[in-house]
Amino acid sequence: SERLDGRPQKQRLLVVANRLPVSAVRKGKDSWALEVSVGGLVRALLGVNEFEANWIGWAGVNVPDEIGQRSLTEALAEKRCIPVFLDQETVHQYYNGYCNNILWPLFHYLPLPQEDRLATTRSFQSQFAAYKKANQMFADVINEHYQEGDVVWCHDYHLMFLPKCLKEYNSKMKVGWFLHTPFPSSEIHRTLPSRSELLRAVLAADLVGFHTYDYARHFVSACTRILGLEGTPEGVEDQGKLTRVAAFPIGIDSDRFIRALELSPVKYHIKELQERFAGRKVMLGIDRLDMIKGIPQRILAFEKFLEENPDWRDKVVLLQIAVPTRTDVPEYQKLTCQVHEIVGRINGRFGTLTAVPIHHLDRSLDFHALCAIYAVTDVALVTSLRDGMNLVSYEFVACQASKKGVLILSEFAGAAQSLGAGAILVNPWNVTELASSIGYALTMSAHEREKRHHHNFMHVTTHTSQEWAETFVSELNDTVVEAQLRTRQ
Ligand code: G6P
Repeated sequence: SERLDGRPQKQRLLVVANRLPVSAVRKGKDSWALEVSVGGLVRALLGVNEFEANWIGWAGVNVPDEIGQRSLTEALAEKRCIPVFLDQETVHQYYNGYCNNILWPLFHYLPLPQEDRLATTRSFQSQFAAYKKANQMFADVINEHYQEGDVVWCHDYHLMFLPKCLKEYNSKMKVGWFLHTPFPSSEIHRTLPSRSELLRAVLAADLVGFHTYDYARHFVSACTRILGLEGTPEGVEDQGKLTRVAAFPIGIDSDRFIRALELSPVKYHIKELQERFAGRKVMLGIDRLDMIKGIPQRILAFEKFLEENPDWRDKVVLLQIAVPTRTDVPEYQKLTCQVHEIVGRINGRFGTLTAVPIHHLDRSLDFHALCAIYAVTDVALVTSLRDGMNLVSYEFVACQASKKGVLILSEFAGAAQSLGAGAILVNPWNVTELASSIGYALTMSAHEREKRHHHNFMHVTTHTSQEWAETFVSELNDTVVEAQLRTRQ
């Protein structure tokens, strides 16, 4: 079946991200246990039915042998996933090194400690070479599976080199690239030794997307200032070739969360949590255990609040769910120790024989428990130091139709631009301000909470992940058609 514009009803998408939405654990020589893994992008694309999406990415596991590679490829095929096999050294240099020790902190405006910075400077060249090599390995797999008419949608900072590799294979491939992190000010990007090569590689795409207008603007400025190219309202122009650059704010599959609250296991969890925390207000932080999430700052603010408000000490509990991530990167190991130390100190200081002020978990929750915990929360703390969008804030709002709890949200999260009017916006670096926002949120009138919640709920339920993906892909199709018309003129 065809649509009026001649495109097939269901367009074939090759969604390329560093990590597949399914992670694999080896059970035997040729047997595998597959598990759906967490992460913002994964959650977002779970809600999209318009396309026939095929995933290409790393399965998160080292498979050096051919038997293993073949059997894993077969197992993943059932889930429409195609693996890219990265050897251990490449993972170390590309994923732990260049992606997560260089690009990730830089794009979030977080300087590395001086000694790490020096070590990184020394290993920069080999890590960048591994990054390019890994991107080329992705391109090889895509090229092998590509069929004419497919849309190739590349995701995130791991794959900035990919658009260039793909266009070298086939200049007619429709290639989109989307960044899930912030794109920093051009003054920050300028400090990256590989600044120009990365920008040029991204510009090979037909469409380049960001969560917010600011990130798109920073990217265009980087291209004009560093590469000397021309920025236009449409994007970036290089010798007559236009790369379209625009903002496409992501959302969530809000119905999935709203429907889940009606399920009996979720209702059961809710009842259990309500009983467990009866008589206390529940505050919640849920994040990957990442330095961009501002977890120590948030916990210190909570400590300050307890210090200044003794009456609240036995009336409030903070549930901090910190999902371990990138555990081979030293900065993440340091953060884990730091968080544990602060939590231990505060619980020792304000805990009693029967209760502690902070419940800290180093693990993720299953979907039902997650929805239940969102639903019973009075105040959610999303206090990232920087964050591309942050979908925890959206998920919380979706689950709050009956409770109408308060969202404390960092002004440095992309979500501040969409949920700012309903949330209490804070500067997460200002612990004093954060502590007083906690007090304000806990005592807010029902009327104000309802008004704020309504604003955010309307936004979250009308700007869904499905709509986000549709908009990006249709814009990509249009961009390619327009470019063809232009070259014919
Ligand atoms: C962020 C990134 C994603 C990444 C996810 C989980 O949301 O934007 O690209 O997949 O974190 O991180 P990990 O390193 O475990 O894939």
